[in-house]
Amino acid sequence: MPTLAVIGSQWGDEGKGKITDYLAEDADMVVRYQGGANAGHTIKVGDEVFALHILPSGIIREGVTSVIGNGVVIDCEELLVEMEAIRKTGRSGSGLIISDRANVVLPYHRLLDGAEERSRGSKGVGTTGRGIGPCYSDKVARAGIRMGDLQDEAYLRERLDMIFPLKERLANALGTKLEQDRFAILRSLLEYGRIFGPYVRDTSVIVNSAIEQGAKVLFEGAQGTMLDIDHGTYPYVTSSSCTAGGICSGAGVPPSAIGDVVGVTKAYTTRVGAGPFVTELHDEMGARLQSVGGEFGTTTGRPRRCGWLDLVVVRHACRLSGVTSLAMTKVDVLNDIPVIKVCVAYDIDGEIVQDFPGSVTKLARAKPVYEEVDGWAGWGGDTAAMCRKGYSALPRNLRKFMDIITTNTGTPIGIISLGKGRDETIDLRKRRWST
Ligand code: IMP
Repeated sequence: MPTLAVIGSQWGDEGKGKITDYLAEDADMVVRYQGGANAGHTIKVGDEVFALHILPSGIIREGVTSVIGNGVVIDCEELLVEMEAIRKTGRSGSGLIISDRANVVLPYHRLLDGAEERSRGSKGVGTTGRGIGPCYSDKVARAGIRMGDLQDEAYLRERLDMIFPLKERLANALGTKLEQDRFAILRSLLEYGRIFGPYVRDTSVIVNSAIEQGAKVLFEGAQGTMLDIDHGTYPYVTSSSCTAGGICSGAGVPPSAIGDVVGVTKAYTTRVGAGPFVTELHDEMGARLQSVGGEFGTTTGRPRRCGWLDLVVVRHACRLSGVTSLAMTKVDVLNDIPVIKVCVAYDIDGEIVQDFPGSVTKLARAKPVYEEVDGWAGWGGDTAAMCRKGYSALPRNLRKFMDIITTNTGTPIGIISLGKGRDETIDLRKRRWST
């Protein structure tokens, strides 16, 4: 059963796009199972840079089937824009299939996302404004519209007649007004049904049958563990299941279909939006990580908050998703920092805590307990050439830094990424796919 799952072990933006693209080299299928156009994956292939929000990373590789699973919420307008951008690069995008059970992000979801955020005032979540929360809320409230419905005019009409008046009332209560009436929405949904109809399938059947036939299937997570609706820093989270557990419901596969799990971990920590962040740096070091690391959101352009690597977070992620190896990204951003700190526990009211607390008020009182490692000054230059030399050529202190991570998470580091390019990667894994 050659499958592989890629999950984010922090608050997203760990570099999953690059790692998924790297791991997808010999994949037959890449499956996205959660999130929507709130995600932002940046992938560099030669001189081309792709910023994907909704399309699976496999779309860049010809011959790979790219699946948007039922757990994803689909913004059809965004999907169309991305498909066109991909085609402009000379790629066909023909390998795309979309779940008939994936819910559709509707214009009022975006509008209500903004209005709900405004109503929270200073206690806002800091959402991406892409309508994600309202769309998932409707899915769970059984008030959604799914990709498989888009070609059935009578059913769509019936659904909108029922749902739309409630949305109008909600918008009024939030002091706003819906921009499009139900007829305009119906027309655009029917048009999307026509455009995407050929791609819409029962993806669970297709993915499971690919697995049974021995195809190499890669499951691609969009956000990170700490944004998971259950296990993240609730309520400062997204509205989907970002851990490996989300693969089963979001792709329609059994737990036994999940093989090795790669936890992508940035060498420091970032988060966008509001919410607790124990190792956040408000000083020059935080500003340095932000500028050297180019820490600005792919989706919203917002500056990301930056801090030292938090292993309480990564340990939490490894346990929740059964991470079998870590992929360390952006290690090069730490080059030339004299002393690097790594958080190994929290001090909460004098008690040393190893497990990530569920309460945001407790987290607000948590102080990081750090281990320190000397930096690797003067190392750098032609990263691709250095990567070809492998692990043993890495500076001693960088290897010490990696040892701290492995010891504190109980998880080996399988991949080290030292730059955006595919060749700026050291691969230490003993096997590429679970068997
Ligand atoms: P939403 O997913 O737009 O509802 O936003 C909820 C929270 O998740 C906000 O703090 C966002 O900044 C964060 N978020 C959502 N998607 C991403 C992502 O791809 N990377 C990082 N943060 C994200």
